[in-house]
Amino acid sequence: MTAPEGEGYLPHHPVLYHQIIHAIRPQRERKYVDGTLGAGGHAWGILKESSPDGLLLGLDVDPHALALARERLAEFGERARLVLASHTTLEQQLANLGWSLVDGIVLDLGASSMQFDTPDRGFSFLRDGPLDMRFDPTSPLTAADIINTWDERSLADILFKYGEERRSRQIARKICQSRPLHTTFQLAELVEKVVGRSPGSRLHPATRTFQALRIAVNQELAAIEKTIPQAVKALAPGGRLAVISFHSLEDRIVKHMFRSYSQDLRDENHPMAPVLRPALTRLVQRKPILPAEEEVQQNPRARSAKLRVIEKLP
Ligand SMILES: C[S@@+](CC[C@H](N)C(=O)[O-])C[C@H]1O[C@@H](n2cnc3c(N)ncnc32)[C@H](O)[C@@H]1O
Repeated sequence: MTAPEGEGYLPHHPVLYHQIIHAIRPQRERKYVDGTLGAGGHAWGILKESSPDGLLLGLDVDPHALALARERLAEFGERARLVLASHTTLEQQLANLGWSLVDGIVLDLGASSMQFDTPDRGFSFLRDGPLDMRFDPTSPLTAADIINTWDERSLADILFKYGEERRSRQIARKICQSRPLHTTFQLAELVEKVVGRSPGSRLHPATRTFQALRIAVNQELAAIEKTIPQAVKALAPGGRLAVISFHSLEDRIVKHMFRSYSQDLRDENHPMAPVLRPALTRLVQRKPILPAEEEVQQNPRARSAKLRVIEKLP
């Protein structure tokens, strides 16, 4: 297996790269989907390992990511079909290509290093920029819209629900007293004033608030719930779906959905009743696959990554 760190490789380090390749087992003449293309790191590996004629559909809603991936994957020519679209439209995208079933699908959730490191995108509390946080720069809702127009209760609700922030009410109150807020630094400072820095904690006090806003802006949890059923349907027997999540809210959804597809479905009130829908998949591993210590040292973004894999049953 060839690692992607070769000459000319892009700044983004694909998280759990070898584990993804191992899970997907790319083979020639087969078809694959990378639903979160980013800089094309995982896609590169899948195309390389399925040479000379494996095909890959790559999706991303961020035109900057797509442009980078296009450059990175140019060496594979027509084998890489890259489309500016959400993975929530997977079924439609496959129909557009005339692909009925595919042999492997990857979702590497969340923001890429390039997105975090570009101040203008507004994803990071460590870089000053506009409160944006949209993966898709044409989508209507920005973080600034939420911060400056939502009522205090709705703000507190998303901070609690999507950030698991215990001080959600105080932060929401302070935001409403201080708005308008325009920049990531303004918001990060405000949160730090409310929450304070807990001694010994590795987390920046604004981590949870920024996570919550990003999830709300991009409706990330709803997107996963919408895409996984389409992915399961699109897999050929023996095909695999591999999902990398970066926080417990995402991982919980993936875990539950994977578990439910991997069990026979019965009427809950009548456990002895006939099976309504037999298991469609099997869990390739019961526990999530985590990055090795060495990977976390080289790429701190990998720290919270969890990979779960299911395989479509015949
Ligand atoms: C963590 S990065 C993926 C990195 C990629 N695996 C690589 O190796 O370079 C996640 C990417 O998913 C994209 N994304 C987020 N939500 C999406 C959606 N609903 N549909 C398609 N792409 C999405 C983001 O724009 C970002 O580029």
